[in-house]
Amino acid sequence: MNAVHAVEARGLDFTRGSTAVLKGVVLTARQGAIHGIVGPNGSGKTTLLRLLAGLLRPSAGTVELLGRPLAAYSHRQRARTMAYLPQNLPEPLSLTVRELVLLGRTAHQGLLGLETRADQEAVDCALDLARVAHLAGVRLEHLSGGEMQRAFIAKALCQEPSILLLDEPTASLDPAHGLQVMELLAGLRSTQAVCTVMASHDLNLAARYADEATLLQGGRVACQGNPSMVFAPERLEPVYGCGFERCPSSAGPGVLLPFPCGAKPQQG
Ligand SMILES: Nc1ncnc2c1ncn2[C@@H]1O[C@H](COP(=O)(O)OP(=O)(O)OP(=O)(O)O)[C@@H](O)[C@H]1O
Ligand SMILES: [Mg+2]
Repeated sequence: MNAVHAVEARGLDFTRGSTAVLKGVVLTARQGAIHGIVGPNGSGKTTLLRLLAGLLRPSAGTVELLGRPLAAYSHRQRARTMAYLPQNLPEPLSLTVRELVLLGRTAHQGLLGLETRADQEAVDCALDLARVAHLAGVRLEHLSGGEMQRAFIAKALCQEPSILLLDEPTASLDPAHGLQVMELLAGLRSTQAVCTVMASHDLNLAARYADEATLLQGGRVACQGNPSMVFAPERLEPVYGCGFERCPSSAGPGVLLPFPCGAKPQQG
């Protein structure tokens, strides 16, 4: 018997006015897997994640989370199942990092919204995991871009979801913090079978950590499946319109080096 997929999207179209933003997109992600969505600017990654999160309604097609149609979830059930990290973080609210992360507990709290010991422990754990515990008392408007991104990652973790939908979660992070976030996602994958679907422009991080990948081009799936297939230079080049060289590396599947078309880098 097939296991229930964490995320299953079938035949997704999204049209705005006369613009077909997504066309016939199919995406399945297993429980305990990291699924990378890559593709050039404007290829539809954010739109796809917003459809999976139920923030947009598809013009056609269906989305199921853990075998259940998205529309059958209440807001509260959805927030306990799935957390979404947007690409563009909201303007800093007048909150401290701890207050922001506590908002991730809303769907776990009773009608009165009283903060329990379990909530406090979940907040402390999420602050630690996202490496922002030392910033807990700092107001959001005083954070750097990367610190802000980690604060919002902590909020998503604090929801304790089975599914994380992350839109470019490492975009503002330095290499060490980017790796730390990917290690964190890999840890959640193996210890709690958390499924992460993440859009990224960091092809090397995606190639190294993803179990499955989707390459979008112009709102359609150009290639999907095993990362070794999706991240092959010959697949990436026609989609991105630049060259890619795979350089051997002892740390992972080799480093993808982009170069302008017609200007293959010199060896050595
Ligand atoms: N509501 C809308 N109306 C019209 N066009 C839209 C709408 N939303 C998105 N688009 C267009 O759809 C395309 C896909 O946008 P999307 O934000 O999903 O791309 P993306 O792959 O996330 O890009 P990036 O890498 O720059 O984040 C873009 O060309 C965008 O302008
Ligand atoms: Mg985007």
